[in-house]
Amino acid sequence: MGGPNILKLSWIFFMVYFGKCSPPEEPIKCSSKTNLNCTITNSYGAFPDRAVCKAAQAVFPTTEEELISVVANATKEKRKMKVATRFSHSIPKLVCPDGEDGLLISTKFLNKIIRVDQENMTMTVESGVTLRQLISEAAKAELVLPYAPYWWGLTIGGLIGTGAHGSTLWGLGSSVHDYIVQLRIVTPAEAAHSYAKVRTLENGNPELNAARVSLGVLGVISQVRVFFQCNIWLVR
Ligand SMILES: Cc1cc2nc3c(=O)[nH]c(=O)nc-3n(C[C@H](O)[C@H](O)[C@H](O)COP(=O)(O)OP(=O)(O)OC[C@H]3O[C@@H](n4cnc5c(N)ncnc54)[C@H](O)[C@@H]3O)c2cc1C
Ligand SMILES: *[C@@H]1O[C@H](CO)[C@@H](O)[C@H](O)[C@H]1NC(C)=O
Ligand SMILES: *[C@@H]1O[C@H](CO)[C@@H](O)[C@H](O)[C@H]1NC(C)=O
Ligand SMILES: *[C@@H]1O[C@H](CO)[C@@H](O)[C@H](O)[C@H]1NC(C)=O
Repeated sequence: MGGPNILKLSWIFFMVYFGKCSPPEEPIKCSSKTNLNCTITNSYGAFPDRAVCKAAQAVFPTTEEELISVVANATKEKRKMKVATRFSHSIPKLVCPDGEDGLLISTKFLNKIIRVDQENMTMTVESGVTLRQLISEAAKAELVLPYAPYWWGLTIGGLIGTGAHGSTLWGLGSSVHDYIVQLRIVTPAEAAHSYAKVRTLENGNPELNAARVSLGVLGVISQVRVFFQCNIWLVR
């Protein structure tokens, strides 16, 4: 499902050109300690139109339950929401809520490894887990993600949401989202469903394909289960 190879090569150039060693500063800035009156940019400090986006509030849920409560409250109040990450490495303005009274839901603290299943070669993680965390935790279980983007400073939610990829024609191809076997996504719902709903989409469910590259518009992905391969260098 990869794009043209020239696009993939361009990322190598991009990485060399823009690569930095220190972690980027938090892309969400708020004027008060209660996280009101906020702005968000990408990691370059401005979007392509040089704008910085505004949001009325930012929230940093630490568990899926809290996330559900955040989505439910905002749905009830008919507020617009967008998902933001600790990195905000995407260049386009995907993360901006429409208008200035929106809500930013950050996955910064949804950063836990939930389960490593060595037998089935999968790992279940929260969506704010970084690619770096994912790769190093997998290595401990002798698992490897065959084809990842050439850059560690991405979250699993952000990189699948935009279809981030490495380059290969082997296996399922080079896009990380093609190695997702299950995801949990929190979406707004009607009052009868307490304003929020969590869906667990498994491999084989066509809805999973729709949710893989969501550009953040379908809901908040809370958890992802990724399929790995055995580290062939360790097989004797
Ligand atoms: C130096 C550099 C090198 C790169 N190299 C590559 C590469 O080799 N290959 C490649 O394909 N791409 C590459 N990229 C692009 C990068 O993979 C994407 O921009 C990626 O989306 C950034 O991830 P992020 O975690 O910063 O997400 P963000 O930019 O913060 O978010 C991206 C989108 O995903 C949505 N989103 C994030 N988390 C969730 C969630 N939990 N639920 C729902 N929606 C969510 C956001 O709302 C937003 O719309 C590179 C980028 C940089 C800066
Ligand atoms: C946020 O902005 C509004 C309108 O611009 C202003 O009235 C309010 O005092 C600000 N709140 C904080 C906490 O800065
Ligand atoms: C959602 O609203 C309820 C009731 O107003 C409140 O108790 C709860 O703390 C809110 N949840 C979040 C995460 O803001
Ligand atoms: C591997 O997957 C099978 C089938 O889903 C399941 O029954 C088994 O418990 C899993 N193994 C582990 C170690 O969780």
